[in-house]
Amino acid sequence: MGKLIDGDDGLLDDDLERSSEDQHSFGGVWTRIKLEALEKYLVAFNTALSKQSFTRLYIDAFAGTGRCDIKVDGEKKSIDGSARRALTANPSFHKFCFIELRPKKLAALNALGAEFPGKTIEVIQSDANTALKTLCSQHQWNSERAVLFLDPFGMHVEWSTLEAISKTGAIDVWYLFPYAGLYRQAAKNADALDADKEASLTRVLGTDEWRQVFYAQNRQTDLFGGSNGDVRETDHRQMLEFVSKRLKGLFPAVTEPKVLYQGGDSKNPSGAPLFALYFAASNPTPKAYGLAMKIAKDILDTL
Ligand SMILES: C[S@@+](CC[C@H](N)C(=O)[O-])C[C@H]1O[C@@H](n2cnc3c(N)ncnc32)[C@H](O)[C@@H]1O
Repeated sequence: MGKLIDGDDGLLDDDLERSSEDQHSFGGVWTRIKLEALEKYLVAFNTALSKQSFTRLYIDAFAGTGRCDIKVDGEKKSIDGSARRALTANPSFHKFCFIELRPKKLAALNALGAEFPGKTIEVIQSDANTALKTLCSQHQWNSERAVLFLDPFGMHVEWSTLEAISKTGAIDVWYLFPYAGLYRQAAKNADALDADKEASLTRVLGTDEWRQVFYAQNRQTDLFGGSNGDVRETDHRQMLEFVSKRLKGLFPAVTEPKVLYQGGDSKNPSGAPLFALYFAASNPTPKAYGLAMKIAKDILDTL
């Protein structure tokens, strides 16, 4: 049996190892939940804006292939991924932008053009951060509105990218925040924090304040009366509260996160918490973000 990482929630190292492997080959219950939330929002967004003159854009920054392999209760199946769900949303978006870093996934994304001949699709092979910053700076946001899905495996979305997104005032964001990635990087014992982990936490959270908030001087002394260094005193939930606070300081409106677990459903979760699903609106107009938030909260409540 693995050792406890945090006494208060009983997470095991072994659980985390296994969940990390599974995330990269197979999705799970959380995959279905995030995709259902996204799909519902895409329909509601297009319906709400259908009488307005905006060009509606869907941006998938970690697009994958359009299909997802999942394993639920030991059973493997393939389900439609985010790109396909966006393409079949009715009413439709006017344009689709699929960003994907891995060359081997691009053929499947490029083939979607032939399968959905009426749709305007742009496939970009790039790091999501680079492509999103370019996209945010080049589009005409006074005449366009977008939904962006940020669905990384891990700690890949830079804070500076979120800043560029928020600045557009025109993009609604679904962000699958890598909750397990966060608590894995922020090791219990600060001695295990290397420069890479520190840089990754700062890049994703947009500040190095996490160091003071998460860690405190270890109150226990070693055998010789010396200090044992810093330890993380915040538990996972408090760390997630820090994330929420950061996002709420950047976007005009942000929902509470929906924590997605390795197993079970959201009413009866089991296993390690893997992700935290947020919705954030960048439009500063109360009427616009009010409606977007109402729709998103209703969706999150039903999950
Ligand atoms: C969780 S999967 C996305 C699944 C997809 N949203 C779906 O529903 O089918 C994450 C994807 O991001 C890609 N990826 C990893 N790092 C990336 C980066 N820096 N920029 C863009 N894509 C990246 C991976 O190759 C993978 O296809």
